[in-house]
Amino acid sequence: MEKLARPSVWKIKPYIPGKPIEEVKRELGIEGEIIKLASNENPLGPSPKAIEALKRAVEEVHLYPDDTCYYLKKKLASRLGVEENMIFVGSGSVEIIHYITTAFLNPGERVIMGKPSFIMGKIESQIMEGEVVEVEAKNYTTDIDGMIKEMSERTKIVYLDNPNNPLGSMVKKEDVEKLVKSAPEDTIVVIDEAYHEYIDRTKTPDSVGYVREGRNVIVLRTFSKIYGLAGLRIGYAISKPEIIDVLNRVRLPFNVGRLSQIAALAALDDEEHVERSRKLVEKEREFLYQEFEKLEIPYIRSETNFITIDTGKDGQEVFKELQRRGVIVRPLTPYGLPTHIRITIGTHEQNIKLMEALREVL
Ligand SMILES: Cc1ncc(COP(=O)(O)O)c(C=O)c1O
Repeated sequence: MEKLARPSVWKIKPYIPGKPIEEVKRELGIEGEIIKLASNENPLGPSPKAIEALKRAVEEVHLYPDDTCYYLKKKLASRLGVEENMIFVGSGSVEIIHYITTAFLNPGERVIMGKPSFIMGKIESQIMEGEVVEVEAKNYTTDIDGMIKEMSERTKIVYLDNPNNPLGSMVKKEDVEKLVKSAPEDTIVVIDEAYHEYIDRTKTPDSVGYVREGRNVIVLRTFSKIYGLAGLRIGYAISKPEIIDVLNRVRLPFNVGRLSQIAALAALDDEEHVERSRKLVEKEREFLYQEFEKLEIPYIRSETNFITIDTGKDGQEVFKELQRRGVIVRPLTPYGLPTHIRITIGTHEQNIKLMEALREVL
């Protein structure tokens, strides 16, 4: 096999997703309730409006989906104040990260990103044989000045997840601006905003504004987080028409399913559900902060629906012990944080169960 596969493949450590509930039940033979706080999904589930729309649409799954995602692009464009040809819809935002590196990255070109940051940018760049430059975070926040220092004519992509996964922290408007404006002319700045809808609105950087200005910026958003549609795999990019055109050249036909498009359209219209989800996270985040403080567990203040804590122990072990108690979290060893774990904020009942388990384990 060593000779058959492309050499770049051997450098890749495969992505390890949050464990599904069914898998944990199977492995540990647990009958009782298991809660998953590992993939930053919405504990309130999908929007009820999306569920209704899905029920109506399910009888038409024998038909291929609309390859152009016409209605979804139209709705997103009008909300974001951009043209429809500035939207690209993908099977989750990870698929769009894949298309960005496939379409733009030549072997040996540089990709600059924070360390840690969402790992798919690194994996996809390695597949395309890019040179990945990871800039260590400072005080648990992406080091923008450090990233700017690494920029050169060889830099093709600058990847910023804001807020950062797995840290949960966010880079300020002024720093995003500095990054975007410092990028060399032929560099693409990818701003991955998977947790955008959770951010305190007074702090939100106007990343779509840079797209409107005609810069080489790609903003990524997703329906997997606050919209509660992770299982349907749907996300989108906002960028200038010339960049969207390039992405469309490498896109697979019918990359976004019929049900996914329909659910996303309905979810966008359910502002009540979005608001309820945001309020839950705000309230429960404070609750968990207080609980961590009581146990003197160091945590990183978060702008998202997850919190990363330093367990002071082997994170893999803590993860296994929590799993035995029916709580799935995410160990952060693959992100170079061996004592940290990342915990998705759940419902109040789930958070209480988490804290009971954590108290026992730590
Ligand atoms: C920063 C970031 N980007 C992208 C994704 C992937 O999202 P999607 O489900 O849209 O592929 C995640 C999911 O964890 C994420 O945290």
